[in-house]
Amino acid sequence: MEQNTRSSFSSRIGFVLAAAGSAVGLGNLWRFPYLAAQYGGGIFLLVYLVLVVTFGFTLMVTEIAIGRKTRLSCIGAYKALDRRFGFLGWIAAFVPVIITPYYCVIGGWVTKYLFTFVTGGGQAAADNGGFFDRFTQFDAGSTLATLFNFNAPGPWFLLYTLLTAAVVIFGVEKGIEKASSFMMPVLAVLAILIAGYSLTIDGAMEGLKYYLLPDFSKFSASTVLGAIGQMFYSMSLAMGIMITYGSYMQRENIMEHSVTQIEVFDTLFAFVAGLMIIPPVVAFNGGDPTKINNGPGLMFSTLPMVFESMAFGEIIGAVFFLLVLFAALTSSISLMETIVSVLMDKTPLGRKSSTLIVTGATLLIGIPSCLGYGPWAGIKILGMQFLDFFDFISNSVLMPIVAVLTCILIGHVVGTKVIADEVKQNGAAFHREGLHRVMIRWIAPVLLVAILVSELATKVFGLFTI
Ligand code: PFF
Repeated sequence: MEQNTRSSFSSRIGFVLAAAGSAVGLGNLWRFPYLAAQYGGGIFLLVYLVLVVTFGFTLMVTEIAIGRKTRLSCIGAYKALDRRFGFLGWIAAFVPVIITPYYCVIGGWVTKYLFTFVTGGGQAAADNGGFFDRFTQFDAGSTLATLFNFNAPGPWFLLYTLLTAAVVIFGVEKGIEKASSFMMPVLAVLAILIAGYSLTIDGAMEGLKYYLLPDFSKFSASTVLGAIGQMFYSMSLAMGIMITYGSYMQRENIMEHSVTQIEVFDTLFAFVAGLMIIPPVVAFNGGDPTKINNGPGLMFSTLPMVFESMAFGEIIGAVFFLLVLFAALTSSISLMETIVSVLMDKTPLGRKSSTLIVTGATLLIGIPSCLGYGPWAGIKILGMQFLDFFDFISNSVLMPIVAVLTCILIGHVVGTKVIADEVKQNGAAFHREGLHRVMIRWIAPVLLVAILVSELATKVFGLFTI
């Protein structure tokens, strides 16, 4: 990502596909369904959808416009807008440092499941979470022995991280882009078929109701914070990524259109993932939605049971996990690439050594998340396992902070006109300019500060249980 010889995406659809490729990943397939299940089903879905078209839209337009205007990645871009906000670029750039390691841990889980299905072990995985628990909680007696045992997540995490690093080090983005423009549509079709099948399972209707019909008594500040964090994560917002992508966008692109397309694409993937997972999990739990409480393991414990009850389930399962692996890889590659490019820009290091350093750091920082359900399960931070803690710090703390400060910078320091002018380049329309202005100046920052304070108060001061 050199700033002077900045290349551009060759076409409008090229930009949308690249941004959507970064956006669609484990966030949609793994994270969205378990959060929706955890935060009350329909009410979470409703809050999420409202947030995407208001707040998500505002922030994505803002970030892409900042990038296209300054032609810089996030570290330089915030500084170029106002020197005093230069630090914000650094906080944003730090978010992927927290996310990448645990993203690779989950990527490792996916790799393990792919291997299990390919080698004909799909049936064994279909025991309502038992297989997943034995895998993530595996304890070989000592930390080191567990880390290197294939029955535990360690080697899979290593494998997945090396796969990601191999692509980043060789910079074969072209190949990955080609492959992903073929595999993402296949994943979409397969997900729709599986979701259709899921709905035919006996007892699935209870789950469908839980997923689609909002129960307003389940609404709370946590629902909103959870949905906001998920929105940032899923749309790759508040971590500088969209600024970098915007810096590659051509001036001729109609920005508002592109943003709408990315939003629709990303949200549909998440919605279908929920359809695929939530109705069957409720059915398998005897129709009682309150029993679904297995958090990050949800996708891994439910889907194998769905596959197991399907004709050709082993094959469908294998194909499915291959595609999920692919969606995850395109995202983790862009996450790692972001950190590598900062290192290359800010130090004399080249691509190879930067990638090696980032890979080493990812592996080290990922160890606690990797062992956090197994031998290190006794250690909790703010009442959370390591993986959940890293997820919480990035999505519910750092990203909202970056978002609030971005809103203040644009809404009250440099002015929303800077963004609007950039969006309207070449005579393009900005239909939701009024919404953008009100959101960024008032609604978004007030909402964010209010829930950040309330959430931190409960999590940090209420639940300190190391
Ligand atoms: N948006 C991705 C997902 O939903 O899985 C996660 C992500 C990928 C975030 C790449 C940031 C990023 F640069």
